[in-house]
Amino acid sequence: MASDSSRPAVAVVGGGMITGMQLLPTIYHMQRQGAIGEIAICALNAAPLKALAEDKTLRSAFPGQSFTPHPDPAKVAPEENLPDLYREVVAAMPKRSIVVVAVPDQLHYEVVGFALQQDQHILTVKPLVLSYTQAVELEKLAYDRGLAIGVEYHKRFDYRSVMARRQYRAGRLGSFRAGQAHLVEPYYYRHSNFQNWCTCENSDMFTYVGCHYVDLVHFITGLLPSSVSLYGVVEKYPNGNEGYLWTDGRVTWENGAFLSVLNGMGYPDAGPGGNSQGITMFCDGPADGCLIRHSDQYRGVVHSYTEAAPEAGETVYAEPNPDYFRLLDLGDGGLTPVGYGHRSVEFIINTILRVEAEGGDDLAKRRGLLKKIDQAGIVATAANSSYNELVIEAGRMSLANGGKEAVIEYGDKPHVHLR
Ligand SMILES: NC(=O)c1ccc[n+]([C@@H]2O[C@H](COP(=O)([O-])OP(=O)(O)OC[C@H]3O[C@@H](n4cnc5c(N)ncnc54)[C@H](O)[C@@H]3O)[C@@H](O)[C@H]2O)c1
Repeated sequence: MASDSSRPAVAVVGGGMITGMQLLPTIYHMQRQGAIGEIAICALNAAPLKALAEDKTLRSAFPGQSFTPHPDPAKVAPEENLPDLYREVVAAMPKRSIVVVAVPDQLHYEVVGFALQQDQHILTVKPLVLSYTQAVELEKLAYDRGLAIGVEYHKRFDYRSVMARRQYRAGRLGSFRAGQAHLVEPYYYRHSNFQNWCTCENSDMFTYVGCHYVDLVHFITGLLPSSVSLYGVVEKYPNGNEGYLWTDGRVTWENGAFLSVLNGMGYPDAGPGGNSQGITMFCDGPADGCLIRHSDQYRGVVHSYTEAAPEAGETVYAEPNPDYFRLLDLGDGGLTPVGYGHRSVEFIINTILRVEAEGGDDLAKRRGLLKKIDQAGIVATAANSSYNELVIEAGRMSLANGGKEAVIEYGDKPHVHLR
């Protein structure tokens, strides 16, 4: 294992659910392979960092590996909030290291912007930001400095998505006309930190998870979304905060097609899968209909255990998803991450490493590489995926106006307005 200062350092900002279950295992794995160096993790306070450091699965998967926590649980009280500490950590890193952003959605703009100003490359969990103007500002900041921004939409790295993209773009799936997608997260999420930030004023279930299938339709077809109508049901979280816990969105596309997107936070904890999700896309071919249908929840695996695991949502009878993110025993003494969640994070970090390896200190060369990454369209970047921010803006505008259709205008100054 190499974790020396000659390899790019990684600082993760945010030590919550997505860091523990997806980002950190892949980052540890890449450190173990010698691709990256020191790992730091910043959180709002020390409590989640202590939990991550003591996590039994991570310890057995990556024996001997650790991260530097900020704040240090050994030095500060668990609940003492230090919201600006990440700035010191990011500013102290060597230039053109890697900052991984995994804070709540409404903080992405601040953290990504600060890290770019400190000349750091970015991997951020989706969504990049919540407004188009902010996305364009970050895109420019990054390009001026020759820095990469990869937005982690992991459904893109599910092989079924990449297969569909290739066949669609080869003309074998006709032209998308009408689709249905749904992604309903488990009920127990209501008891987690979501209740503190995924509230009506900040977000809603469409903004939080609907973006995955909207992004996927673009990834497969290349089409741009042209309007959004969004209806939401407000419910109270256990702490009394209110959130749009159910949403139904209709997204229309530049060729007149539509995708209806149902999202929620209420898949039964007693249910056998981790959530309920899938997409169907009906397309017109020259002489017959064409079809793409993905069951993204049930992947053909059934286990029935001696007893349910202690974690929330675990059941005796289970339909585990082998494709998203798994830690497997491949006989090397630890556990190896596999799945599209792993591939996605690894691909983005490798993309950043390639920009550094091939571009080095040559700004023009790094910019040339960034343009190629934007054009390839595999990694979602600030430059090639800001339709997602327009969809979020349109969705929020529609939601605030009783579900009226909000139209996306492209051209010189892309913006949204009610029809
Ligand atoms: N399917 C997906 O792609 C997916 C899934 C889950 C989460 N996410 C995204 O990941 C992000 C985080 O989600 P989560 O579920 O891990 O949330 P979480 O609430 O579990 O964790 C948020 C973390 O951010 C930290 N934080 C908050 N303010 C901070 C600050 N000023 N400085 C440093 N750290 C700070 C908190 O301490 C906490 O550790 C969100 O943007 C979410 O949309 C994406």
